[in-house]
Amino acid sequence: LRMAVLFGGRSAEHEVSVLSATNVMAALDPAKYEAVPIFVTRQGRWLLSGFGEGVLAQPSAGTQLCLVPGGGGQMIAISPNGDLSDAGRIDILFPVLHGLHGEDGSVQGLAEVARVPLAGCGILGSAAALDKHIAKQTLRAAGLPVARGVTIQRDDVPTFAELEAELGLPFFLKPARQGSSVGVSKVSGSQEFASALAAAFEHDDKLLAEEFIAGREIECSVLEDSRGGLFVSRPGEIAPAESHGFYSYNAKYIDEDGAAIKVPADLPDDVERKIQDKAGLAFRALGCDGMARVDFFLSADMSFVVNEINTIPGFTDISMYAKAMAASGVSYPEVIDRLVEHGLA
Ligand code: DAL
Ligand code: MG
Repeated sequence: LRMAVLFGGRSAEHEVSVLSATNVMAALDPAKYEAVPIFVTRQGRWLLSGFGEGVLAQPSAGTQLCLVPGGGGQMIAISPNGDLSDAGRIDILFPVLHGLHGEDGSVQGLAEVARVPLAGCGILGSAAALDKHIAKQTLRAAGLPVARGVTIQRDDVPTFAELEAELGLPFFLKPARQGSSVGVSKVSGSQEFASALAAAFEHDDKLLAEEFIAGREIECSVLEDSRGGLFVSRPGEIAPAESHGFYSYNAKYIDEDGAAIKVPADLPDDVERKIQDKAGLAFRALGCDGMARVDFFLSADMSFVVNEINTIPGFTDISMYAKAMAASGVSYPEVIDRLVEHGLA
């Protein structure tokens, strides 16, 4: 089976995607899969990569690849001097891209247009989950618990006092369409507001201000089988180091001691079951299919909210998706096999 693995990409999570894809490549059984790694540059060009000694090549120039519309996976190669040649067919496209232009339905739409099977979540669920404003509205409408939030457009920014009155202190300010906590700030006082706004607007024209939920960060992996049944993993827990204040980009990827991961999370049975149940409902409510990781905040009184849904969750060494699946009896290679089966079905 020939599988194109897309990585890198145009979003602020470019480097996270490289880490994720490196792990995916290492987990692919060469007896089953012929992987075609494709490096998506920050400008969005698809360049043929290679994988050797555990490292994915990130070329700055070279053979460019295109998927032919309606071609059923047919690819065309464009050499650096502009010559076109047949690059063969792929059987499935696995975007290991995070954030905009990869996890947001765009590449999923490209797969649809190319008529090539896709590993992972399709267009609608991807688009709905990536936009935190749309996701919150949809989850709330489905009766799922979410944190209070205020959506902010660039041309209509509430004052600090208005947000404080609505959300209390501290509150979070986030770009609506970003991942890995890029551009996210915790605002504890008016003096932090302007810089938090600027940091978030650097990444999006639409922001979300959300109340701070004091509690634990709990995550569940959801994997759909080829007949549409959902497998929800046991929940895992992420404990960001005290020094980071929250599970920021630095706590996630830069500081090796930025966070501790515990899988399965230490939870009373009934709470674990309730969280798993809501993870499945949230997945369905957003129109997801294939896979997603559903993230929660759990308070001391065991009430919880759905924080967000990631349809291409991180597959880095520290990432929860595969760890929670493994703790639930599904190994990393098995996750990939099931995603492929789902995509081909
Ligand atoms: N957006 C990152 C990759 C995650 O949710 O794991
Ligand atoms: Mg995320």
